[in-house]
Amino acid sequence: MLLIKNGFIISNNALVKKDILIKNDKILKIEDEINEEAEIIDAKGLLVMPGAVDVHVHFREPGFTYKENISSGSKAAAKGGFTDVMTMPNLNPCPNDLKTWQEEQRLIVENGVINIYPYMTISEDELGEKISDFDNLHNYCYAASDDGHGVNNLVLLEEACKLALKYNMVIASHAETKEGRQLPCGEYDAVRREIEIAKRVGCRYHFCHLSTKESFEAVRQAKKEGYRNITCEAAPHHLVLNSSMIKDANWKMNPPLRGEDDRLETVRALVDGTVDVVATDHAPHAVSEKSKPYSECPNGIIGIETSLPIIYTNFVKTGVISLDRFLDLMVYNPINVFSLPKHGMYVGSTASLTALDIKNLHTYLGREILSLSQNCPYIGEKYYGFPKFTICNGKIVYHN
Ligand code: DOR
Repeated sequence: MLLIKNGFIISNNALVKKDILIKNDKILKIEDEINEEAEIIDAKGLLVMPGAVDVHVHFREPGFTYKENISSGSKAAAKGGFTDVMTMPNLNPCPNDLKTWQEEQRLIVENGVINIYPYMTISEDELGEKISDFDNLHNYCYAASDDGHGVNNLVLLEEACKLALKYNMVIASHAETKEGRQLPCGEYDAVRREIEIAKRVGCRYHFCHLSTKESFEAVRQAKKEGYRNITCEAAPHHLVLNSSMIKDANWKMNPPLRGEDDRLETVRALVDGTVDVVATDHAPHAVSEKSKPYSECPNGIIGIETSLPIIYTNFVKTGVISLDRFLDLMVYNPINVFSLPKHGMYVGSTASLTALDIKNLHTYLGREILSLSQNCPYIGEKYYGFPKFTICNGKIVYHN
């Protein structure tokens, strides 16, 4: 048994001191004081919360293990306080069908230290030409995405939506038109036309990493009209960085950093409930790739070790969002939007949790990074809320 002593949990929007007893993979007790024979973990002064859930990460295996692999990515996630992640399918081979999915799943079972739920592709190899094998993969995947590419074949997209509806899966859209590419209109034109498809078909439709005022406005409007099947995410970088801050390729991602107006609109959407989940788009790339000239180097930054501290420091500690909203954005909404296996801070729950040091500022250093890649704009920055330990399914998967 594991006994977590003297931590604070979030209860009705407030911090309350509790001890937590874990037996095997379940929470057995949560009480003011527990004294039992068990391995004790000191959580004095720490915020103990359910393990965070990131629905948008790139772990690069199979195919690009010089950037990241399932072992390194999942260890980085555990260090960042995440116990459950969904891995994007822009791999080699891409999980298009049973055979390719099995290849990824075998690596996950062998090497993952947390719960990993792989996306399947929407179209084979994300080429937008031939629909992927929903008929088989719906048994194993919660969602499909062609992340990295907008689906511009709208006939295929609508067919995928119908299959998603049939199988109760989520379509996760990297919304981008071919003509507009990374321009703001490239995103919001795609969002607008895809909302029409999602309304018509009625499937669960989730927009990845939205970054413009108009995109959030379109989702806000759809929600106002009652379309609860339409959801969206915001990434930490779009919430705290803008285009005027770009220094080098470690500030380059897709969608790109926008102007300050769009950043403020992203924050507004976070606050008013338009944003359902915070997701990192953790996208590792090797130094050799990111040191190419800016226009030639690949899009993406790592973010899974800094997501909780960034959101806690910028939005919770400052009172912009409540503790309960923090939990919804980082844990409960991701689980609900994608119908993932549940966990939470209650007796009987799967014991997946993390403990954040919310009292002390910590400077994030390159040498502590567990990801295989270092493409990160936050190195040298100070935040509250870095995890001290993470427990997944009753096992300690990170302890600092
Ligand atoms: O910045 C990004 N990186 N955006 C994407 O859509 C893809 C991702 C990647 O795979 O590197």
